[in-house]
Amino acid sequence: MRRLSRKKALSLVKELDAFPKVSESYVETSASGGTVSLIAFSAMALLAVLEFFVYRDTWMKYEYAVDKDFSSKLRINIDITVAMKCQHVGADILDLAETMITSSGLQYEPVIFELTPQQRLWQRTLHLIQGRLREEHALQEVLYKTLLKGAPTALPPREDASTEPLTACRIHGHVYVNKVAGNLHITVGKPIHHPQGHAHIAAFVSHETYNFSHRIDHLSFGEEIPGIINPLDGTEKITYNNNQMFQYFITVVPTKLNTYKISADTHQFSVTERERVINHAAGSHGVSGIFVKYDTSSLMVTVSEQHMPLWQFLVRLCGIIGGIFSTTGMLHGLVGFCFDVVCCRFKLGVYRPRADVQLYNQANNLNHHQTPLLADEAPQE
Ligand SMILES: *[C@@H]1O[C@H](CO)[C@@H](O)[C@H](O)[C@H]1NC(C)=O
Repeated sequence: MRRLSRKKALSLVKELDAFPKVSESYVETSASGGTVSLIAFSAMALLAVLEFFVYRDTWMKYEYAVDKDFSSKLRINIDITVAMKCQHVGADILDLAETMITSSGLQYEPVIFELTPQQRLWQRTLHLIQGRLREEHALQEVLYKTLLKGAPTALPPREDASTEPLTACRIHGHVYVNKVAGNLHITVGKPIHHPQGHAHIAAFVSHETYNFSHRIDHLSFGEEIPGIINPLDGTEKITYNNNQMFQYFITVVPTKLNTYKISADTHQFSVTERERVINHAAGSHGVSGIFVKYDTSSLMVTVSEQHMPLWQFLVRLCGIIGGIFSTTGMLHGLVGFCFDVVCCRFKLGVYRPRADVQLYNQANNLNHHQTPLLADEAPQE
């Protein structure tokens, strides 16, 4: 009883065979079929190789969410050179929370404002990259992917020991601020804190020495990652007026970066800039200096590097191979069919004896002088 049911099951499975064996003697090969197979195999190989490159490649996925992190501190990295002596300028940060952030994390270093030819070259290259970055967004992805691999983006140090007087001041370092809007400013005089607020003591600085020409070698928010190029890096502003006010309005977008090499909390930002001459007589009031107003965006961007999973690659490979195989088979059949139709219908007067007709003629002892039965239905000329 059990044996019988097993036999039944076996025969049922046999019925399901989608690949029935065809005896070799029934298989006929042809030159056209061979050519089509060759083309199909080449196409398969080519597409499979291309697909492999797609599989090897990675791409960036952008996700946006509301920033829920409201208690952490924001780090600001600064490297600005001002064309004034260090004892004459001071930098500090005031924020909306009315907190005076001590700028003790900042160092003042007397330097020469003019760049050496090699540093100029570096700056020009940076400007070139900046220009390209503004035009093509895809370049940013390339930068993200090659982070930590590329050369450092910091200004190279002076290659010679110059004897020029050190008339400029490089202010560099980092400070931690509250994650609220704030204002980083560099003005004349050292900041003094008192209970009612703060002031810059500038009594002994004469107006003629005011020169807020500056160069921003680096300004970024969050972790400092070599390889990322920030929008203001390399900016140089020269003014011929003593009372110039420069303003930068920055919106910081927190960006979580997850690539295969690095995962970091960075911050992208967008900038608008303005500058004007302070002239109280002409109604242009204010304080000369460099003002960087920043605010954080409520949106957070997560950039993650994505990769095609292996199973998807295999499925696509099967699709390519099977698809080409069956499509070329169908095309071959169609072309052969059309060819046959054209041959048989319109190639008039071609006499092709058919085996069965010949047999019939022989059987009836028809000799060649008699009109034989025509093989083709086509009328004779
Ligand atoms: C400020 O310094 C720069 C660079 O040294 C110079 O080109 C410019 O003329 C100076 N401006 C004033 C107002 O002195």
